[in-house]
Amino acid sequence: MSFNRRDLVLSGTGIGMIAATGPVMAQNAPAASPMPQAAPPGVPRGASGTDHPVPTAERRVNIVTLRDLEAEAEKVLPAYSFAYAAGGAGDEWTMRENEAAIDRWVIEPNFLSGHASPDLTTILFGSKIGLPVITAPVALHALFNTAAEAATVKGTDAAGSIYVSSSESSLTLEDVAAASQGPKWFQIYFPSDRGYARELLQRAKAAGYKLIVITVDVTVTSNRERVMRILGQPTPDFHSGNKPTAPGIDPLMAAVHKRDLSWDDVAFCGTETGLPVVVKSIISVPNVVQAIEHGCAGVWISNHGGRQLDNTAAPMTALPRIADAVNGRVPIIVDGGFRRGQDVFRALALGADAVALGRPIMYGLSLGGAAGVQSVLQHMKAELQMVMQLAGAKSIKDINRQFVAPHPLA
Ligand code: FNR
Ligand code: LAC
Repeated sequence: MSFNRRDLVLSGTGIGMIAATGPVMAQNAPAASPMPQAAPPGVPRGASGTDHPVPTAERRVNIVTLRDLEAEAEKVLPAYSFAYAAGGAGDEWTMRENEAAIDRWVIEPNFLSGHASPDLTTILFGSKIGLPVITAPVALHALFNTAAEAATVKGTDAAGSIYVSSSESSLTLEDVAAASQGPKWFQIYFPSDRGYARELLQRAKAAGYKLIVITVDVTVTSNRERVMRILGQPTPDFHSGNKPTAPGIDPLMAAVHKRDLSWDDVAFCGTETGLPVVVKSIISVPNVVQAIEHGCAGVWISNHGGRQLDNTAAPMTALPRIADAVNGRVPIIVDGGFRRGQDVFRALALGADAVALGRPIMYGLSLGGAAGVQSVLQHMKAELQMVMQLAGAKSIKDINRQFVAPHPLA
């Protein structure tokens, strides 16, 4: 696999961030070899040596804990795919902090509640789902399984949850939509070409997506150093299936992310589609208040899994003050580092309405295709059910702040 003009053009934004770590480095470094090379010092385990083809697996995955999946996925993924998924930005401080911050809250169980068989169903933007855990938008599923997004959306549907499709999907947004009957939302990286933005939004509506998520923290590439370090190793196909179809739009430039993104662009997503709009990857109270003032139907608290602006706060640190500011006016979705039923429970207790999973879903896709994705969500559901039973919560809306306390040593 070599880099082409498109990669160079797109470098610095969105999908280009994947490619950018190649060509941006390549401009300053010796020509990249198309063959795997000995890894430079500091390369993470698994990012060097033998490489794997993209998995084709389609099977249930036996899961003890979602924490095991990263190491299992590393054994089957091409080095490039694994580094892309597992890595974060900069020092990866925020990526680690996302998980650490969850443990700064302890669960306060209500024993002897008299409840049995907790009800995990919830309604999110009009869709009744079997668990308050959804599939986060992730680019380029063809890096993880040859069935790509078609498998992920089927697995999500089979588990009774909501699928959020990245505008940088490997398959076209229409093919993703056609692969399952379940509830689906469309996540847009707002392109610098407004005509292409309009086209994407209208196509998403026509394809049946019920809600627009606009992700706002990728106006430029971040420093994904794990990927930069394996420059020169073979890469699977990292091109998005979504391309502009309208005449007169330069397909190369159209997809470059809008750098001067503003609330006008958020409003555009709503006026163009008439669909509810959720702003994703905000982490501050002022941004959350602005989102509500600008008519957003919900807020998605995230730092992109620690992949964009390193040294930002973890969602679990920001969530209590954000929930206070929102005060029940709109639903709150949260993501970043959630790996256990206990983690989801604590987020719901602090005011989230749903939690999204990014990397664990990609590892399930790598290890088992649609059935692997379903296994991940079902495992999370079973774990959350156990936690609710043990903690004495009878339903999702029953999980409130009385069930958590700050860790005494945190
Ligand atoms: C992402 N994420 C992401 N977000 C988004 O809005 N659009 C996208 O295309 C992508 N692409 C993407 C690729 C990969 C490989 C990962 C791991 C993540 C971020 C994602 O939606 C979510 O915010 C985080 O993944 C949540 O953190 P965890 O669950 O991965 O810790
Ligand atoms: C990422 C982009 C595509 O996190 O959102 O890699």
